[in-house]
Amino acid sequence: MEISSITSHPFDDQKPGTSGLRKKVKVFQGPNYLENFVQSIFDTQADLKGGVMALGGDGRFYNRQAIQIIIRLAAANGVARVIVGQGGILSTPAASCVIRKYKTNGGIILSASHNPGGPDEDFGIKFNTANGGPAPEGVTEAIFERTKTISEYRIVEATDIDLDQLGIQQLGDTSIEVIDPVADYAELMKQLFDFERIHQLFNSGLFQMRFDAMHAVTGPYAKRIIEGILGAEPGTVINGEPKEDFGGGHPDPNLAHAKEIVKLTSGINAIDFAAASDGDGDRNMILGRNFFVTPSDSLAVMAANAHLIKGYKSGISGVARSMPTSQAADRVADALGLECYETPTGWKFFGNLLDARKITLCGEESFGTGSDHVREKDGLWAVLFWLNLLAVRQESVEQIVRDHWRKFGRNFYTRYDYEAVDKAAAEGLMEHLRSRLSALPGSQFGNYTVDYADDFAYTDPVDGSISKNQGIRIGFSGGSRIVYRLSGTGTVGATLRVYLEAYEPDPDKHTLETAKVMQPLVQIATELAEIEARTGRSEPTVIT
Ligand code: G1P
Ligand code: ZN
Repeated sequence: MEISSITSHPFDDQKPGTSGLRKKVKVFQGPNYLENFVQSIFDTQADLKGGVMALGGDGRFYNRQAIQIIIRLAAANGVARVIVGQGGILSTPAASCVIRKYKTNGGIILSASHNPGGPDEDFGIKFNTANGGPAPEGVTEAIFERTKTISEYRIVEATDIDLDQLGIQQLGDTSIEVIDPVADYAELMKQLFDFERIHQLFNSGLFQMRFDAMHAVTGPYAKRIIEGILGAEPGTVINGEPKEDFGGGHPDPNLAHAKEIVKLTSGINAIDFAAASDGDGDRNMILGRNFFVTPSDSLAVMAANAHLIKGYKSGISGVARSMPTSQAADRVADALGLECYETPTGWKFFGNLLDARKITLCGEESFGTGSDHVREKDGLWAVLFWLNLLAVRQESVEQIVRDHWRKFGRNFYTRYDYEAVDKAAAEGLMEHLRSRLSALPGSQFGNYTVDYADDFAYTDPVDGSISKNQGIRIGFSGGSRIVYRLSGTGTVGATLRVYLEAYEPDPDKHTLETAKVMQPLVQIATELAEIEARTGRSEPTVIT
């Protein structure tokens, strides 16, 4: 097998963000762009030489071509075995499962998550380490440093691997093993959840559900598991055919983008349960009959009920949530006498806590929930968790959540996103807020008194690493909060996220409308940050 060394020049924009390197497809298609980044992974991850790596993606436009290029780079860099999902497909949680199950030396996942796909849309790549989780900052930094000095990459000249053919194909000394992308993941779900009970729920004739795969990667997973193994009626999985452009949609499971299931769960003919997952299958949205479960509440409910679920029946060791996620989970942890860790945004920060068994469950307000079963957030897992819980408790989604609020109080929650704003303006806004922080404690805004105001920094309790500038927190006495941060996943300009949380212990007020409860905080948040004056936006792009 001929190995070529191709001369290349560094790009200065290959710094991985919150979840890998994301750019427009056209950027990745440009000469040497993908090759440089992948070679930088091989140059810095010595274990891959002579080792095993997993490879797969969410099936978006350019997925197949990128997989072929990466396989040829892997062969040239001496990887002994590449385990690749059939058709180049692996959902992000399934990739994590495969890395762990086959004890690979890590893996490469191709995805831009919930960002739109297609020739003019987004593409992404990230490296996951041997624990199955997104590479920690030390590793992404090393890869980035390498991209700045790289001068050549190594690639074999070969015809394409048949990605649709299961089994082993040889590329020189490298074995390319094409595996069923669903089987290992389905097996893991079977161990965690009471499939018989969920099957009975489906068979009862009293329960109607839909799962919206949003034409993204979870289609085949949900069809096989929910309709196939668990026996839900055909048609339960909607938009189940994966498409390279996600059918032109925005594969983000939230109230703004997963409109179809919002409609199905609304009104007098509403079905009992609906859920959706994103482009690469790691996010989830949970809906009951006329009822939306905020991701922050979902995590808290899971923590409080984990002992009812097969895979967690001996209890959980602790919980973690990303900083902007509501503090609902903290209250459950408190009641259970467990630790609740507050981490920076991004799943990579949960890895050490999970590996050290300090936590069993973790989640983010951005529709991500997961557990120690893999090292990624997991959309379908969250759906199966809820289904198992509904089957055990024999109550509706709404009853379960309202009961939860009665016990723990309710954390009303809203996020405002200002997308594609001018980068300098967004950075100026954050800088201005930072300059005001020290003067804020004790100040009064309407009924709210500032308790603390800081720029969140995190010290990893396992390896002691420190991550600074992770978002601005303004906490009010009584437990309400405003959080500001700039997105690390966007590909155009800057996205300002404003997270608002209002704590309400009084059960009589739990039926109030979220928008109404949040109104005073919205006003404080927009005025304090001078959002309109600095960004020219009087309204956010998306409210979730
Ligand atoms: C967003 C979410 C974050 C999540 C990440 C990857 O990142 O806010 O919670 O981990 O996507 O799915 P952001 O764009 O805010 O940096
Ligand atoms: Zn995702």
